[in-house]
Amino acid sequence: PHPFYAALRREAPVSQVEPGGMWAVTRYEDVLYVLKNPQLFSSEGFRPSVQPAWLEQRNPVIDSLLMTDPPTHTRLRSLITRTFSAPGVARLEPFIRASAESIVADMLARRRVDFVESMALALPSRAMSALLGLDASLAPRFKSWADAVTGVGIIPAEATERRAELVAALDDMKHHLNGVLELRRREPGNDVVSDLLQARAQGGVLSDDELMGFLVLLLIAGLETTYDLLGLCGLTLADNPDIWARLKKDRTLVPRFIEEVLRFESPSQSTIRTTTQETELGGVKLPKGAVLLVQFVSANRDESVYRDAHRFDMDRTGVPSLAFGQGIHFCVGAPLARLEARLAMEVLLERCDRLVREPGPVTWNVAVTTRGPAVLPLELHP
Ligand code: HEM
Repeated sequence: PHPFYAALRREAPVSQVEPGGMWAVTRYEDVLYVLKNPQLFSSEGFRPSVQPAWLEQRNPVIDSLLMTDPPTHTRLRSLITRTFSAPGVARLEPFIRASAESIVADMLARRRVDFVESMALALPSRAMSALLGLDASLAPRFKSWADAVTGVGIIPAEATERRAELVAALDDMKHHLNGVLELRRREPGNDVVSDLLQARAQGGVLSDDELMGFLVLLLIAGLETTYDLLGLCGLTLADNPDIWARLKKDRTLVPRFIEEVLRFESPSQSTIRTTTQETELGGVKLPKGAVLLVQFVSANRDESVYRDAHRFDMDRTGVPSLAFGQGIHFCVGAPLARLEARLAMEVLLERCDRLVREPGPVTWNVAVTTRGPAVLPLELHP
């Protein structure tokens, strides 16, 4: 897609991909402007895409941060700022490191593994179970839950059987999350659910729908993107022995490596905004109600912002990427995602001498707005 976006940045940086369709926003500067002006570019336009008319139950994600504007957004976000801050997630570090250690030991014992399944899916699922206080044995269902939340909006009418499956997955998800809520009301623990219940007890305004929306958003926003980031880190290391060697010599470079994978690959490729009034963007007049596809993937390779934008360069300084968004919706989970990726990479570098990728093209997991390897067969050498 990169040459295509490069052409758009040059020739039609704000343009309708097809007549009457969404507007692609591709330049860094315009993407930043949209994210920094939520009064002009609303996040509530996401809603119809996850709450189709045929769905009888409320899709809980509608009531979440991601799909609200101020003042609701401000109120909700203030309830979890502390929990997700870098010091807030540091309490999970020993648990995540121990999980990464056991995952890498297991991979080394098996020698040939699918890195996506063994690490990229496993580590975030464990971290998220711990964070939400969910039984880790439910982890294999997380993907079907997340797929249901995002899938109900795009499934065609004739796919009745699949619709029934998605509804069943939503019911299953709500059932288990309600179980966690009940448990934590009785026995508070060291997890985000207890933090939210405590915030409410101390006068924070939070409805039951909003509480459920939080949990569901954390599951869907916190998993797919982190799976993709870990898979992309593994792929980059396996394909670039020079980077592997450099990181092995100096592990303090791991955070820089992760930031450059985020910029270069953009696991979260885009987001959506809707104009609240007629407005202008990048010299183009937009009507009220225009739906914008805000392309992080393109902004992160903008040649006017990044020198040698299409080269992977860990030594980059200057403007940070937009991989986690910007402004009031800036990713709440960024400190956690960075922590998980850093610990996974550190343990891998400590325990393995080399990674060898089975030759052949990569198969990609391309969801609505995310992208990462679907499978990554690797041979690990101790
Ligand atoms: C929002 C990316 C991991 C929770 C966002 C946004 C981006 C993003 C781009 C902004 C969306 C927008 O402006 O419309 C990523 C990437 C991740 C990641 C690339 C991993 C590599 C996580 C994790 C969690 C999380 C681990 C939770 C534990 C959230 C939440 C929001 C969000 C709750 C909504 C914030 C708001 O609307 O105020 N994420 N995310 N994310 N992310 Fe992440």
